[in-house]
Amino acid sequence: MTAAPLLRLTLLALYLSATASGWAQASATVEVFKSPYCGCCTEWVKHLRESGFTVTTREVEDVPAARKKLGMPERLGSCHTARIGDYLIEGHVPAADIRRLLKEKPKALGLAVPGMPQGSPGMESPRPVPYQTLLVQPDGSTRVFAQH
Ligand code: CU
Ligand code: CU
Repeated sequence: MTAAPLLRLTLLALYLSATASGWAQASATVEVFKSPYCGCCTEWVKHLRESGFTVTTREVEDVPAARKKLGMPERLGSCHTARIGDYLIEGHVPAADIRRLLKEKPKALGLAVPGMPQGSPGMESPRPVPYQTLLVQPDGSTRVFAQH
């Protein structure tokens, strides 16, 4: 084989692997554990989809039990718990925060917006309140990840 076809093959291989990893990132699926009766959960799922995430929903009767099983501390609890890759996402976390988490890849359990703050994605409200997205450490302690 002469050098030119070999080079072309190498470039093709490089191109294919770059494209494949690009797809992998874009198609990272968010798995949402929620109650079938939860309206704001559905709104949050819509927010994620509109932001480009692929979402699958798992309807569960007992959300706190699912949260416990997944390993998110109860005191940080909200109305749904989600999983993306090795991270857990609790509550109405903005899609932009999840993107930043996936980009920065900190060693953490995941993100949480405890409770259901008015004005967070899926909790649209005429009376929004300030809220924080918390980075949950592997030991369950938290630090502020984003201020909204
Ligand atoms: Cu909610
Ligand atoms: Cu919810």
